[in-house]
Amino acid sequence: MIRLEGLSKTFGAYKAVDGLNLEVRPGEIFGFLGPNGAGKTTTVKMMTGLLKPSAGRVLVGGRDMAADPIAAKRAMGLVPDEPFVYPKLTGAEYLRFVGELYGVPLSDMRKRVPELLEMFELTPWGGELLESYSHGMRQKLVLAGILLHDPKILVLDEPMVGLDPKSGRLVKDIFIRLAERGTAIFMCTHVLEIAEKLCHRIGIMIGGKMIACGSIEELRAASAAKQEGRDLESIFLSLTGGAEYSALLKYL
Ligand SMILES: Nc1ncnc2c1ncn2[C@@H]1O[C@H](COP(=O)(O)OP(=O)(O)O)[C@@H](O)[C@H]1O
Ligand SMILES: [Mg+2]
Repeated sequence: MIRLEGLSKTFGAYKAVDGLNLEVRPGEIFGFLGPNGAGKTTTVKMMTGLLKPSAGRVLVGGRDMAADPIAAKRAMGLVPDEPFVYPKLTGAEYLRFVGELYGVPLSDMRKRVPELLEMFELTPWGGELLESYSHGMRQKLVLAGILLHDPKILVLDEPMVGLDPKSGRLVKDIFIRLAERGTAIFMCTHVLEIAEKLCHRIGIMIGGKMIACGSIEELRAASAAKQEGRDLESIFLSLTGGAEYSALLKYL
């Protein structure tokens, strides 16, 4: 569903993303992990056509993002790291706007907009301007907009940031259901518990390169110490060289 071929981005002399190859299949939840500055958001921006790659290409459902951007984008939904919404629209207006953009029939919208507001517990705020929404409320509204047009490919950059525990749980269950229905999900996250419980495969990015990619079991086998039962946190720290973090405490 999503295919990255030799995807690279340089800013000046700096290689933010360096020759990334990846395929995400239908029904797969792929977790993209890595320290701050690793190049995750830059990858997401190139995948979704917001940033032009310096080299390589992005295929979305077989469509080339550079050659056929409208068709490629039509097939996908994006939750960006900053949930941008027009401040002078109300929640319900935003959803109708997104629906129109993606050609959702009006009769579907009349039914789905109230349902989705209800689902994300936004009904009381459906008529309020988005400038009054918190980060978490905007995040949920963007997700509601995506469910409205129900794409087969979903790209999310830190979707759990700002969500309260109940909303976080709801969103996790939504991802699982969508994947069961065949949606391909690519998700950047720092929440290792989510990566561990939700993701079928995990890629770890450092300095623009994917240094490891596979199931938890495969990553465990690849990481330095291979004791049984090691959690993703230890695997992640061992693969990213973060295990020496305790040295940083000397500045305390
Ligand atoms: N527009 C830009 N101009 C210059 N450098 C950038 C730009 N966007 C990102 N970078 C650099 O690219 C690197 C990767 O950034 P980013 O993809 O946001 O990382 P992540 O999302 O993994 O934290 C960082 O070093 C960042 O400073
Ligand atoms: Mg980022």
